[in-house]
Amino acid sequence: MKLWGGRFTKETDSYVNAFNSSLPFDRRFYKQDIRGSIAHVTMLAKQGIISEDDKNAIIPGLESIAKDIESGALPFDETSEDIHSFVEANLIERVGDAGKRLHTGRSRNDQVALDMRLYARDQIDEMKELLKELLATILPIMEENIETFMPGFTHLQKAQPVTLAHHLGAYFEMFSRDVQRLIGIRKRMNYCPLGAGALAGTTYPLDREYTASLLDFYGPTLNSMDSVSDRDYIIEFLSAMATVMMHLSRFSEEFIIWNSNEYRFINLDDAFSTGSSIMPQKKNPDIAELVRGKTGRVYGALTGFLTTMKGIPLAYNKDMQEDKEMFFDALDTTKSCIKLFTGMLSTTTFNKENMAASAKKGFTNATDAADYLVLKGVPFRDAHGIVGQLVLTCEEKGISLDELPLADYKAISPVFEDDIYEAISLKTCVEKRMTIGAPGPEAMKAVITKEKEFLNSI
Ligand code: ARG
Repeated sequence: MKLWGGRFTKETDSYVNAFNSSLPFDRRFYKQDIRGSIAHVTMLAKQGIISEDDKNAIIPGLESIAKDIESGALPFDETSEDIHSFVEANLIERVGDAGKRLHTGRSRNDQVALDMRLYARDQIDEMKELLKELLATILPIMEENIETFMPGFTHLQKAQPVTLAHHLGAYFEMFSRDVQRLIGIRKRMNYCPLGAGALAGTTYPLDREYTASLLDFYGPTLNSMDSVSDRDYIIEFLSAMATVMMHLSRFSEEFIIWNSNEYRFINLDDAFSTGSSIMPQKKNPDIAELVRGKTGRVYGALTGFLTTMKGIPLAYNKDMQEDKEMFFDALDTTKSCIKLFTGMLSTTTFNKENMAASAKKGFTNATDAADYLVLKGVPFRDAHGIVGQLVLTCEEKGISLDELPLADYKAISPVFEDDIYEAISLKTCVEKRMTIGAPGPEAMKAVITKEKEFLNSI
């Protein structure tokens, strides 16, 4: 059923109906639409704008619609233009004339602005929970691997030894910033647009503070034109999701590399990997690859919607209906990627021996050998050159620095003594890095304590 038509003399073209309709996708926030209507009606009755009797007919009517949609007893009627028309028309069918008073002092413009906010707010809360689970999965793996040595890389070349705890800790930090971003967005957007009307408020004595408090907002929005045409929070949310996906995608890329035949740092659980239809030996990291691939969709939603919004004059324009489909797709994609990644991470086993063996090769302790010389009074630039020569010797012999005999060390610099081996052991290299943020076990423990506190605080 249509909510308008009085000034029209012709039926709408059927293609126009189909093109214009948002019901196929805005049905997903029917709960928020009904919640908003209940608050609106409660306020209207308190202000004496509608009667208590009407309110007492409308609210149970709305509640029964919610229940019937939920159970499937009320199918969506494809002829409705959007979820707002669908619910209102159905309410009138159920409760008669009282239902016709629901839309007093309201426009679909402030109604949809409200629904989207309520829906986005719920989604922020859900996504925050999923990120918390991911963080809660990373933390115990870190705790168990404070002394699991692995190579740290720059340019994907072995650089200096770190630990698995330290490497995963970098992701803990990224995802905790993602959570904080969501918290920030929620704070900024938590104001109620209802009462803005079509664009210029209404002539009814609405109590906007009251409606806002019924819906758990901090208060009403302060400009009615902005209220009906603000979609910044969706853009911020899309940007936060794009950032979550970027982090997940980098983590996935590492998993793909670590799972490769050359690295073998990890074993993916059978439940989180897939096989090949032709090559029987294969166990592929499809989940990580899909997460990496799906990042593009979420970026697309962000740039798509930024582009949609950029030329829209105040106030509401129908372009804004385009805030939904790609946003919903981004939400579904991001949430499922966080969930899947968490599942994959929690079932992965780490090949600690391979990691340590890899850290031993590739001269990750070369900086420490130079630091050893510096401690013995050699200027750093000279030390750098001496160790460079040592690396060359080792490469010629096909051995690592800790396998090079002392005589070879001394041949290049007499400063070297027997304690060089202790100084460049993986354990020493890591343990000596003890400033906060570094991989040394004491620093790691202090950081993990802080990270636990953070996790408990969100
Ligand atoms: N389906 C519309 C949207 O999502 C609802 C608002 C319609 N308002 C209007 N003036 N046509 O934006």
